[in-house]
Amino acid sequence: MAPLRVGLVGLGEVAQSIHLPVLADQRDRWAIAGVYDVSPSLVTLVTSEYAARAFDTAEALINSPDIDVVFVLSSDDTHSRFVRAAMQADKHILLEKPACLTVREIDELLALMPAYRKTLFVGYMRRYAPAYLAAQDELPDHADITHVRIFDLISEGRHFLKKSQNILYPNDIDRALLARGARERDALIREVVGTDAPADLVRAYRGLTALSSHHISAMRGLIGEPKGVIAAHRTNGGANTSVTFDYGHFACLYDAVVDDLGLFDAMIEVRSNTRRVRIIYDTPYIRSLPTRLEVTEAGPLGPVTKSFGPLYGDAFSNELEIFHRHIIEGTKPLTDLADSRRDLALMAAIIERMKESGGDA
Ligand SMILES: NC(=O)c1ccc[n+]([C@@H]2O[C@H](COP(=O)([O-])OP(=O)(O)OC[C@H]3O[C@@H](n4cnc5c(N)ncnc54)[C@H](O)[C@@H]3O)[C@@H](O)[C@H]2O)c1
Repeated sequence: MAPLRVGLVGLGEVAQSIHLPVLADQRDRWAIAGVYDVSPSLVTLVTSEYAARAFDTAEALINSPDIDVVFVLSSDDTHSRFVRAAMQADKHILLEKPACLTVREIDELLALMPAYRKTLFVGYMRRYAPAYLAAQDELPDHADITHVRIFDLISEGRHFLKKSQNILYPNDIDRALLARGARERDALIREVVGTDAPADLVRAYRGLTALSSHHISAMRGLIGEPKGVIAAHRTNGGANTSVTFDYGHFACLYDAVVDDLGLFDAMIEVRSNTRRVRIIYDTPYIRSLPTRLEVTEAGPLGPVTKSFGPLYGDAFSNELEIFHRHIIEGTKPLTDLADSRRDLALMAAIIERMKESGGDA
């Protein structure tokens, strides 16, 4: 079949570093047909590198009969607006995470679902990483799980991207538009954290939606839904968060630490009394970095560890391959809007616990 014609709204870091190169690589599946960004220099760059048409507005791209699939890669505060337009235009949608910033926005989009006949896929690539997929066959029975530990001990993605790729960070976006985006983002965040929330709680919520959403989604995909949030705390101005999820007969401990050390240390570890399964994601968001899986079992001589990897299957390429398959076969993705609603509801519950525990300020 002919490649599906993709239109990209937002040509920033994730578009340049991930989606455009992966789309070009998967040339049998996709054609980069149209682009839009509020930065003219980004549009010029991307149309010079890829044979794509520049649209005058996001709405013109979304409603064009020459576009089959809309990639929403713009800032979080714009997601619900562009997704609504793409759902109403009945286009397939790749939506970067977090799907939205509030449960309210997702509920408004979910209300459009009955009339929507296409595929909406939220880009939680860690759920499509080879180590994550292989771990599902290695987990202990749910009833036997005694403990789960998840962490993101990292520096920001930009720290790694600046050393490895030539991303254009534009400085020609209309200032009034930037200010409006910042106001809208702040208003959405304050719907969750409260109008008078301290700066460290706002930062903690931004961290949850930006970084931790990956592992909250991966946790739910791997071991199911928690009953709730037992405890949550933020320190270091909201850059660090610690959360304890309630799974009844076991707890899942999550830690995020964001610093300037330049390390990327991220892991999910599921234990039973005699088995430990570790998914190791020491992979900032750069394409084709390997993931690893370790399975350790109690043996007569002592623990025996089976190691998978390094596994070079690229999570971002996998997610687009799987998205394409869902479109062609008309099947439902695991990471859809309803699934993302559960992540956002958990993040709101985490914020409520953080309000009780206070910050370090
Ligand atoms: N899956 C991942 O690992 C991953 C990694 C990074 C970012 N993301 C997500 O991707 C999205 C984009 O992040 P980024 O890091 O590329 O940010 P970015 O700021 O580098 O890029 C966002 C782009 O959107 C454009 N934009 C803003 N408002 C717009 C509007 N109204 N119309 C059209 N374009 C507009 C900006 O000009 C900018 O070029 C975010 O939702 C982010 O959470 C996901």
